[in-house]
Amino acid sequence: MQEQLTKILQEAKEQLNKALTPGDAEEVRIRLLGKKGSLTEILRSMGTLGPEERKTLGLTANAVRSEIEGLLESKFSQLKELQKEMKFKAERIDVTEPGKQIPPGSKHPITVTIDEISRVFMSMGYSIAEGPEVETVFFNFDALNAAPNHPSRDMTDTFYISDAVLLRTQTSPVQARTLLAQNPPIQVISPGRCFRCDSPDATHSPMFHQVEGLLVDEGISMADLKGTLDSFAKQLFGSNAKTKFRPHFFPFTEPSAEMDVSCFKCGGAGCRVCKGSGWIEILGCGMVHPNVLAVGGVDTEKYTGFAFGMGVERIAMLKYGVDDIRLFYENDMRFIAQFK
Ligand code: DAH
Repeated sequence: MQEQLTKILQEAKEQLNKALTPGDAEEVRIRLLGKKGSLTEILRSMGTLGPEERKTLGLTANAVRSEIEGLLESKFSQLKELQKEMKFKAERIDVTEPGKQIPPGSKHPITVTIDEISRVFMSMGYSIAEGPEVETVFFNFDALNAAPNHPSRDMTDTFYISDAVLLRTQTSPVQARTLLAQNPPIQVISPGRCFRCDSPDATHSPMFHQVEGLLVDEGISMADLKGTLDSFAKQLFGSNAKTKFRPHFFPFTEPSAEMDVSCFKCGGAGCRVCKGSGWIEILGCGMVHPNVLAVGGVDTEKYTGFAFGMGVERIAMLKYGVDDIRLFYENDMRFIAQFK
């Protein structure tokens, strides 16, 4: 038995040397000191020995046991320490490493264009008015003097949500809303999204942007309209830009016109951008129809006004030489990041 005890002690030392985790050390403890451990068996079998033998052997067995317990204890704390160190190492953060670069975004070209248009008009004293994108038939058509059979009311041109509700096809309903909400003098622009049932191609998109303008005061004439829009064109396209007004029809203005700007590319000589004509159409405008003023409760004997509306995509395409409207909506950063 003496021999066995020496062997057990030897075994304990060897196995604990090899233990790499507290789990390994625990296994050694169970194998030697557990209920069925080899040292426990020896201690248990001592009952069968004579008193003398039991005494001497008992002393050695207990000494072996406490030595093993001591070994286990120091192994456990050594391994725990080691584990802690490894965890620290694995979790260490190098605060001197450079951070992840998040590339700065840039404004969308449509936003850049709306901002530019707004800046020009705000410098002339206009403020910004807003209206809903989901609009009523009343504000989008009826209040704007559109005849009951006007072709733009057609289901094939307009996204209807119900008989009385639609996605606005123009920003013009903001005119009617503003006339109802404010008393003259009124001087607002209203940029925003519009929707029409168009199949996307190089120049059409079912969602696009317009900027509407409305000015109502005493004694406003076509001369004010022309002066304002000519000044706008010069600020947006350069001081050499010339403008001309062609008669047109819109239900909500009388008289109505379309405004052309001299081609900023060729200066009027004729080129690919202006299709050889030297002029580029950029907006619709006119004197606000008395029927529209009346819907807003404006005294049409006292007040007159002008209105205008322009397509933002069209202006952005002309200004930046973009030849396909769909590029604006593909969210390709290589395209968008060019407009800062
Ligand atoms: N709403 C018109 C369109 O979508 C544009 C327009 C023309 C707006 C004349 C106006 C205006 O305010 O006076 O084609």
